[in-house]
Amino acid sequence: MDNPNYRDSILFVEDVALPDIAAQVGTPCFVYSRASIEAQWNRFDRAFGDYPHRIHYAVKANSNLALLNVLAGMGSGFDIVSGGELLRVLEAGGDPRGIIFSGVCKLEWEIRDALKAGIGVFSIESEGELDLIAKVAGELGCRARIAVRINPDVDSGTHPYISTGLKRNKFGMPADQAMEIYLRAEQLPSVEIYGIACHIGSQILDLGPFRDALVKVLEVVDMLEDRAIAIGHVDCGGGLGIRYQDERPPDPSDYAGQIRAVMESRPVRIPVAIEPGRAIVGNAGILLTAVHSLKRNDLNRFCIVDAAMNDLLRPALYQAYQRIMEVDRGSDAEPQVYDVVGPVCESGDFLGKDRLLRVSPNDLLAVCSAGAYGSVMSSSYNSRPRPAEVLVDGKDIHIVRNRESLRSLFRDESMLPSDRETG
Ligand code: LLP
Repeated sequence: MDNPNYRDSILFVEDVALPDIAAQVGTPCFVYSRASIEAQWNRFDRAFGDYPHRIHYAVKANSNLALLNVLAGMGSGFDIVSGGELLRVLEAGGDPRGIIFSGVCKLEWEIRDALKAGIGVFSIESEGELDLIAKVAGELGCRARIAVRINPDVDSGTHPYISTGLKRNKFGMPADQAMEIYLRAEQLPSVEIYGIACHIGSQILDLGPFRDALVKVLEVVDMLEDRAIAIGHVDCGGGLGIRYQDERPPDPSDYAGQIRAVMESRPVRIPVAIEPGRAIVGNAGILLTAVHSLKRNDLNRFCIVDAAMNDLLRPALYQAYQRIMEVDRGSDAEPQVYDVVGPVCESGDFLGKDRLLRVSPNDLLAVCSAGAYGSVMSSSYNSRPRPAEVLVDGKDIHIVRNRESLRSLFRDESMLPSDRETG
């Protein structure tokens, strides 16, 4: 199901009209579709058929507890990158054994929390990290399962900020160094070699780089097997792109089908893991915003809305295009080309440029594809409270995060003692 979609002239998410959500929750707010999330997850799952696999949803894409809870209920595993994400997954009822802990800089307390929770595997990215994990596991009297993340030096063709599989990126280890880490890990009693991992970037629109990366990872698997080191899973990472504008990303089933085909060409079936984030939740969410006012100068027309770069950073940070739809397309306003901008005091604060819209003040707009890397990247810059989040389930609206309250903006701050108190 595509969300959002028009019924007559009004935009709906599942069976809920967006004006009803605005009336009940206010704007700006993020609105997600449960059915879309479930459908995407199932597409990945089905495409692997009977090939042993596990989907580890990348929590960083959208870490709202309700979404994590829905995915946990479907049997999803999780890919995390911090102690905060670990706690969210546990709170949402995720199975700790289905957790992969990724990231270049796991802190000692995060490693300890993860080991205590009994997570599945750490994807490690440096020798120093191996030593730290071994030390903490030794102190706790347990064995840490590890995979080494390979940097395959493959160009994923995506935005440079979100490309991770090239030599110049900080991520992963070249194959020869990875082998050294595995050989070292073999000697460490508090470490168990479990897998191998790779993640080459995000919003990738071609299957080729995924295949090239997997082939390189499997070359390392071959080297390990030559040394009688068995691998329990090959983690292919996340990264499959979605349609924001007119991109034509591969279907999740083709993506998963390709992994399956490569893996099936091997004599032994090694289970695979994948870590999709954006492809599961990206197009399941929108940011609902209201038009505040319209203004123009010689050069431009501006549509000023109540959402801003602090709510949705992607357009400002990556010059990312996100489609903007009128919630009521039956408006009789003149169609005009606008820059859609927010209240934040920066010219970088835009949600979209050169958009043809029929709008008047107080109309609602939906900024599409905001389910991934939307709310999670929001901030309270300009002391703007972070938006509410709503999960639609059929006809039902669930507020799964309240709008941040003004007082909570400075709840954890304090003033200096006054002169009188100190004197
Ligand atoms: N696994 C690892 C180790 C990752 O670093 C990431 C994303 C994923 C999985 C999930 O990738 P996905 O399937 O969502 O592409 N803020 C950026 C995206 C940053 C992605 C970082 N890593 C954006 O808004 O485009």
